[in-house]
Amino acid sequence: EKAGFDHFMMKEIYDQPKAYRDTIGSRISEAGDSVILDEISMTADQIRNIRNIQIVACGTAYHAGLVGKSVIEKLARIPVETDVASEYRYRSPIITPETLVIVVSQSGETADTLAALREAKRNGARVLAITNVVGSSVSREADDVIVTWAGPEIAVASTKAYTTQLMAFYLLGLFLAQTLETVEPAEIRHTLAAMQSLPEQVESILARGEEIQAYAEQIAPKEHLFFIGRGIDYAVALEGSLKLKEISYIHSEAYPAGELKHGTLALIEDDVPVIALGLQSDLQEKTVSNVKEVTARGGKVLGIAYEGDAEFAKSVDQTFSIPRTLDVLSPALTVIPLQLLSYYASLARGNDVDKPRNLAKSVTVE
Ligand code: F6R
Repeated sequence: EKAGFDHFMMKEIYDQPKAYRDTIGSRISEAGDSVILDEISMTADQIRNIRNIQIVACGTAYHAGLVGKSVIEKLARIPVETDVASEYRYRSPIITPETLVIVVSQSGETADTLAALREAKRNGARVLAITNVVGSSVSREADDVIVTWAGPEIAVASTKAYTTQLMAFYLLGLFLAQTLETVEPAEIRHTLAAMQSLPEQVESILARGEEIQAYAEQIAPKEHLFFIGRGIDYAVALEGSLKLKEISYIHSEAYPAGELKHGTLALIEDDVPVIALGLQSDLQEKTVSNVKEVTARGGKVLGIAYEGDAEFAKSVDQTFSIPRTLDVLSPALTVIPLQLLSYYASLARGNDVDKPRNLAKSVTVE
């Protein structure tokens, strides 16, 4: 059932083009000009009454929620907070009937996420679930459900569940935007078209897996690594770092690029590997300055940037390029090399890729 791959994780990484297609497929109108989310029973009036959104999840799903926050705020102009589920309940969150709570869970059974959902409902909020398991506890208890059609995810390290959660957030953000008329119809059409190109673009990245394998073998003996980025690149950096820790056991940290010099730069010395994400065009110049702070101290930077981006490539030691897309959609592409990196680093270190030590696929204790 690994379909010829050595590990479930690799199979699931390769499942992604299809998973993207399955998740967005029927939810884009034939004319390509609007999002259809028939599964959502919220009326237009109810949508107009949403005052704030709280996204609650754990681990990788939380990282998808961080991208979701940027996407919804940018497209629908509704204020969004994203919380780790095990923290959410204990901070007395301000939940009102005008609050939409979005819980994100691959399994739909994560104890803390489920408890957060119940807390939100007790306080009168409407709950929307993004989950990969039809019939899961989360899907049964939420008011509305957007199913991610990733198919079963077996490897402990989440890959296709994360990227299809991103697809769900893009669809939801555009759906809210078309209802609230916060985005011009032409931009909606343009964004949907760019989304439909993502599966092919993922395929083209997967075809260059060897470049990442070579880099993974280079960093496999290291004990520490940093990921830096700004805006949603930082959200992807967090996910790349979690994935690497989880299966390769290499310690890594993700930092907002501008924050390094407030302490962490002290850890950068000769040959410390740093992965810099530079996909947000409005922030790239600033990220380049942060890359220079690293290289000036001997850090070795792998830059992830759009193909043909000579400016960024010049500032780093080596580059992995990804095909051009809209900046807001870039997480759906940049995370792919980071998934491959953690896979190959884990492999190079002789770890059990699919079953990392100390971890369970579904966490049903709080
Ligand atoms: C990391 C990973 C975990 C899960 C987290 C939430 O690769 O898989 O961080 O994302 O345990 O699980 P779900 O999404 O099932 O609620």
